[in-house]
Amino acid sequence: MEREIIKTLDGSTTIHLKEWDECYHSKHGAIQEAKHVFIKNGLSLFEDKPISILEIGFGTGLNAFITFLEATQKKQDIDYVGVEAYPVDANEVLQMNYVAELEALEFYNIFEKMHKCESDYKTEISTDFSLTKRKQFFDEIDDFECFDLIYFDAFGYRVQPELWSTEIFRKMYKSLKPNGVLVTYAARGVVKRSMIEVGFRVEKLAGPLGKREMFRAFKNV
Ligand SMILES: C[S@@+](CC[C@H](N)C(=O)[O-])C[C@H]1O[C@@H](n2cnc3c(N)ncnc32)[C@H](O)[C@@H]1O
Repeated sequence: MEREIIKTLDGSTTIHLKEWDECYHSKHGAIQEAKHVFIKNGLSLFEDKPISILEIGFGTGLNAFITFLEATQKKQDIDYVGVEAYPVDANEVLQMNYVAELEALEFYNIFEKMHKCESDYKTEISTDFSLTKRKQFFDEIDDFECFDLIYFDAFGYRVQPELWSTEIFRKMYKSLKPNGVLVTYAARGVVKRSMIEVGFRVEKLAGPLGKREMFRAFKNV
């Protein structure tokens, strides 16, 4: 599929898939979206605790890198698993301006390491942060009570409705530990119904800039 790198409204870059007219991040700001959806409404619920995170769609590594920066600042231990069937190639990674936009130039080597480390092995990115990139399709995920938090960042329902199905959310529910949490930028009724069907308690929160709402789902058992 033809791809181009574009700038979003907060100055951070993203990848645009022309055929689908779909981006890896919000056009209203890739960094602001990641901070709002995944950090403020996800990671911050677990402040100070060591946690394991599953990311659905590792993509450009933006969510992983921002999570690393937060964890480093707060000295929080994070075991991060990013699932991705189509890794972004090195040439595109080089065009992502996240390290500069986040004013984190001293951690450029960390962003690089996240992309260069081998898939399917756990790599100690720093003393507090380990990363396992799994080259895997989402429907192959078969973990049982392994994760505290899921960043559900698949492409939108409009282009990949099959990834927002009860089958996928059942896998997500199963992979979470009791009282685990899933956050996503999505806010469609059909998505909420699938989440509820598999057992999640779902709440609607204010969305990132450019989006009215988003969901957070709890495995309350
Ligand atoms: C919205 S993007 C993820 C953006 C990413 N979180 C980031 O920070 O850059 C969705 C990702 O899901 C991946 N993907 C799409 N379909 C998939 C599938 N069936 N299984 C695994 N990965 C898939 C895409 O390659 C893409 O990287």
